[in-house]
Amino acid sequence: MLLRGRTDGLIHSPIGNAFALLDGHTHARPLLDLSQAAPSFPPPPVVAERVAAVAYEQNSGRYVPQPGLPELRTAMASELTERYPGSIATENVLITAGCNQAFCVVASAITKPGDNLIVALPYYFNHDMWLEVEEVERRYLEPGPNMVPSVDDAAALIDEHTRAILLVSPGNPSGVTLSPELIGAFRDLCVARDIMLVIDETYRSNRGTDAAAHDLYAEPAWTDTVVTLHSFSKDLAIPGYRVGAVVAGTAVVTEALKLIDCVAICAPRIGQEAALAGLLHATEWRAEQAARIHERHQQFKEVMAAKPGGYELVSSGAYFGWVRHPHTDKPAQEVVSDLLKSKDILVIPGTAFTPTDQQMLRFSFANLDEAEIDELARRLSE
Ligand SMILES: Cc1ncc(COP(=O)(O)O)c(C=O)c1O
Repeated sequence: MLLRGRTDGLIHSPIGNAFALLDGHTHARPLLDLSQAAPSFPPPPVVAERVAAVAYEQNSGRYVPQPGLPELRTAMASELTERYPGSIATENVLITAGCNQAFCVVASAITKPGDNLIVALPYYFNHDMWLEVEEVERRYLEPGPNMVPSVDDAAALIDEHTRAILLVSPGNPSGVTLSPELIGAFRDLCVARDIMLVIDETYRSNRGTDAAAHDLYAEPAWTDTVVTLHSFSKDLAIPGYRVGAVVAGTAVVTEALKLIDCVAICAPRIGQEAALAGLLHATEWRAEQAARIHERHQQFKEVMAAKPGGYELVSSGAYFGWVRHPHTDKPAQEVVSDLLKSKDILVIPGTAFTPTDQQMLRFSFANLDEAEIDELARRLSE
């Protein structure tokens, strides 16, 4: 039967495609899986203990208040107020089933079909997929030097149907962290043109610094313009618990909440309890994991400096390396298949993150341990 829906033939899941390649693949040696970015370590013990304890509580299976557990919203507001200049109130925090859901409900709350969003390239594929499904035009903002987008280029793309500029910092797949000054300049543009600035901060703990990522909340009227999106998946190693957050003005929170009501009713209680325990009691653990991933990043940059096998690291950071492959005659998807077949390395083709093939691949180096990063370089140069 013809499905005739909004997905058939229109969008494709890059992670699903990557895992499909593994069907029928027999490894000659252990697989180096650099496809889906996921912590390779378990959550902190304090989180596991809380999850186990909650399961026995009287209300453990019940819905939670739709915007999220009040204690978690408050803890998230306090955490952000501590780490950024300015102040965030509990009412500005909406808990979602992960950062992907946070983006979807915000995007749908602020756009109608035919509107457009300025989307910095390379994009996070699920953002682009959702906007396609919602019939929202993407106006792609090409990166400038060092994979950093320019405010002037963004300004030139805005028209009367533009609803927001969308940034991801640190970037997935580029790994690039945008400076607080640049983020502030994007905010100024958005204020001047009366559009929103939406920033996905999933990897904010992986910037290699404790300095504030931006000072957007310091502006008293930030709630008119700024929306930030957050994830607990990587920070607490709980991607399967599905918990994230929208931080925004109450107008956006109110509209996004109607969509949460339809698709999830509320984010899972168990995930929210896990996130709360982590926010309150795992600060040191989070810093240690971020430091560990930062060390892997340094090692990854070192081994890639020699361009093993002609693979060139264009930019990197957070969990990712954005890598130019040397096979000028082959589509990126074919290079991905070849890497799996001949080297037992699984990566995502750059075409998942850009509208055209630019000879790029995404490597989630943070999935690997120290020995595996050395092994990656060895296999690439074979
Ligand atoms: C930029 C970005 N946003 C959102 C997500 C999804 O996060 P969550 O697991 O919280 O839905 C990811 C996960 O890879 C990501 O890289």
